[in-house]
Amino acid sequence: MSDFAMEPLVHDAWYIGAWSHELDEGPIARRILGEDVVLFRSGDGTAAALEDRCSHRGVKLSLGAAVEQGLQCGYHGLVFDGSGACVVNPGERTSPTFCVRAFPVVERQHFVWIWMGDPALADTGLIVDFAWHDRTDEWNFHYARYDIAANYMFMIDNLMDLTHLGYVHTSTIGGHPGEHDDAELTTTRTARGARYVRWMMESTPPPSFVKVAGFEGKVDRWQEFEYVAPASVLQWGGGHDSGTGGRENREKPGGMAVRLFHHATPADDENFHYFFWRLYT
Ligand code: FES
Ligand SMILES: [Fe+2]
Repeated sequence: MSDFAMEPLVHDAWYIGAWSHELDEGPIARRILGEDVVLFRSGDGTAAALEDRCSHRGVKLSLGAAVEQGLQCGYHGLVFDGSGACVVNPGERTSPTFCVRAFPVVERQHFVWIWMGDPALADTGLIVDFAWHDRTDEWNFHYARYDIAANYMFMIDNLMDLTHLGYVHTSTIGGHPGEHDDAELTTTRTARGARYVRWMMESTPPPSFVKVAGFEGKVDRWQEFEYVAPASVLQWGGGHDSGTGGRENREKPGGMAVRLFHHATPADDENFHYFFWRLYT
C-alpha cells in the first residue's frame, strides 16, 4: 500500500464500466471501486452488471457465457438474469437465495455506465452528457481505454492543470514553456465541479497544430476544460490564425479544434480505468 493518503472513493456516482462494443464478444470482468464485476449483454441485448462471483460455489461468472435469459455460470450452469435473480438451475428448482448482487446499468452514447453505490440514489439524470458522442458522422474520432496503476485523481489533476504542456508534450501539443507562462486563465465553479478557459494569444503553433491545420504564423489558441465530479473531464481545444477573430468565434471555419471526453473509473485506490474519446476536425 502507498503511504500517500487520498480521499475515499465516491460510491454514489455513475462511472463508465465499459465501452458498449466491449460486451459484444461476451461477458467481461472488470474491477470497479474495489469490487469484481462482470458486465454482459443478455439475449435481448440489454447490458447488465453483476457481482463477479457465483452464489453457488463462488466461481467467477465472467468465465461463463451470455445466454438468452442472462449469464450462465461456467461451472454448474446456473443462469442469472440482469437483476441478479437465478432463473435457471439445471436439475433443481431455482431458489431466490441463489441471487447475486446486481448493479444499476445504463447504456448511453456508446458507454455502459454503472452505479456501484446505493441503487435507490441512482438518478440517471446525473450521467454526464457529451452530445458530441452522437455526432461521429461529422467528426473524425478515436477512442481507447487504458488501465493505469495510479489513483484516479492523478488523472483529474493532470487534465485540470495544463502547466505541464510546455514541458511534457513538446513534439505534439506543447513546447515553448515561456508562452504557457503567459496564458490567460479564467476559472469558474460549476454545479458539479469547475471549468477553465485558457487562452494563448499570438503564440507559436505547436507541432501537431502545424501538422493538422498547416499553420504558418502565430495562432490564437484556447484550451477549455470542465471537471464533472467525480470522474469526468470534458475538453474543447483548438486555434485559429492570430488576428482572424478566432477568440470571438471559436467555431468559425478553418483552424483546428478537438473535443475530448475523459473518464477515470477507479478500479481501487491505486488503479483506474481511463476511457477517452477524441473527436477532431
Ligand atoms: S459455481 Fe456457479 S453454478 Fe456452481
Ligand atoms: Fe498532458
